[in-house]
Amino acid sequence: MNILIMGPAGAGKGTMSDLILKEYNIAHISTGDMLRENVRNSTALGLEAQSYMNQGKLVPDDLINAMVEDRIQQPDCANGYLLDGFPRTLVQAEVFDKIAEKIGKEVDAVIDLQVKFEILEERITGRRICPKCGAIYHIHNHPSKVEGVCDVCESELQQRKDDTVEQLKVRMEAYESSTKPVIDYYDQKGLVTHIDAAQKPEKVFEDIKKALEKNA
Ligand code: AP5
Ligand code: ZN
Repeated sequence: MNILIMGPAGAGKGTMSDLILKEYNIAHISTGDMLRENVRNSTALGLEAQSYMNQGKLVPDDLINAMVEDRIQQPDCANGYLLDGFPRTLVQAEVFDKIAEKIGKEVDAVIDLQVKFEILEERITGRRICPKCGAIYHIHNHPSKVEGVCDVCESELQQRKDDTVEQLKVRMEAYESSTKPVIDYYDQKGLVTHIDAAQKPEKVFEDIKKALEKNA
């Protein structure tokens, strides 16, 4: 199955992706994670993307499209993919759909996680991530067993550079102006299920599973 998971910053795309991947044997492609890895390794792409990301702005389409075009053709995508944080602009969606069609990996289902701004702010400012294994925590909603330490690999937890209220506002503007039209675009193709992602994680996941079963 080929799935897109969409929604604004802090909607729970990463959290829900981890749960979806436990049920479906498909490849996880998070453009945010891929970019952060490039930044950590100081690649040419990372150096170019860093300033956009730190400001909460979108990285230019051509850089993102090239990265995804290559990733989608890797062997682990043979059984399907879960794209998290992509496509985020209409240009990305149109370019991607052409490639997906060409290689026979068209999108089967789009999950749209909907949450209002006040909740997103609380989630983003309280989020902590593990730089080593990628585990996602929240200081109140999903705390680690030992404060500041990853349950999985015992690394020191960090806050993302773009997880401030100021950057969140910029990310929300980009979401409203560039990414919402992408959801409308897939809605017109009849692929989108809108989900109330302000609910408890278990309930959000239950709703996602129902939506995916419908598309299976
Ligand atoms: P990206 O990494 O994709 O960030 P984002 O879209 O801003 O989303 P987040 O990772 O912040 O949130 P999430 O929805 O995954 O929430 P999470 O599960 O962690 O992109 C970062 C940057 O990279 C962009 O700003 C841009 O610069 C660039 N970029 C990436 N892709 C791009 C593209 N395609 N084009 C151009 N630029 C691109 O959850 C958040 C918190 O809430 C966690 O603490 C979690 O524990 C908690 N939580 C989750 N669900 C629940 C729940 N149901 N109840 C209570 N708490 C919850
Ligand atoms: Zn860890």
